[in-house]
Amino acid sequence: MITIKTKEEILRMKQAGEILAACHREIRKLIRPGITTMEIDQFAEKFMKEHGATPEQKGYHGYPYATCASVNDVICHGFPSQTPLADGDIVTIDMVVNLNGWLADSAWSYAVGKVSEKSQKLLDVTKEALYKGIEQAVVGNRIGDISHAVQSFAEQQGYAVVREFIGHGIGQKMHEEPQVPHYGPPHRGPRLKEGMVITIEPMLNTGTSYSRIDEDGWTARTFDGGLSAQYEHTLAITKDGPFLLTEQ
Ligand code: MF3
Ligand code: CO
Repeated sequence: MITIKTKEEILRMKQAGEILAACHREIRKLIRPGITTMEIDQFAEKFMKEHGATPEQKGYHGYPYATCASVNDVICHGFPSQTPLADGDIVTIDMVVNLNGWLADSAWSYAVGKVSEKSQKLLDVTKEALYKGIEQAVVGNRIGDISHAVQSFAEQQGYAVVREFIGHGIGQKMHEEPQVPHYGPPHRGPRLKEGMVITIEPMLNTGTSYSRIDEDGWTARTFDGGLSAQYEHTLAITKDGPFLLTEQ
């Protein structure tokens, strides 16, 4: 069942989203060669608590940290670690903020120091792919219109779209219906209605779309060791168009 949120509920999710966006803005300032993703994780957890919120990912199906920190060939769900980030790395920080029971979810990829042109282009195209999806998030369209817009743009630009991890409805639970794949045909799937709240969170790879999971049971890597990036917003479907709850 797809839950429809009232305007008031959407505003509560927006408040969670504002804390999340502010946390991303601070993380952007912290990211440089030498910092560890564990330090970023601790910063994020403290930031959320100081703002009266909690990190929803911590303890979710046993996930041990406030953030996911996915470096280079890690697609998503990487564990924060004590390994310092290096000049030229790319890193995705993914977080879910819980403010008084209402959630917001946003992942953002960052360049560490000076990155190669190849890495920068992956970051730029992945962010643009997210916005191609957001453009389709309007009343009357279907989920497939979002999926198709993301996939066709990503593939035109020469990247592969990850299939195993997808966007989702969100509200008082992290993962609600509907599923929001970043690939597939247009004009299919549930119709978008005012009051739905979903995430769009494409992961694009430079090589194959295939992934494998590390021994830790969480860390998803590209099968061929190629680079992967991800951008994610939480957004509400409104009669005035997509309303971003996690805009930085
Ligand atoms: N934020 C992720 C998503 O976009 C979920 C991370 S899984 C967790 O759906 F276990 F780390 F929470
Ligand atoms: Co998500």
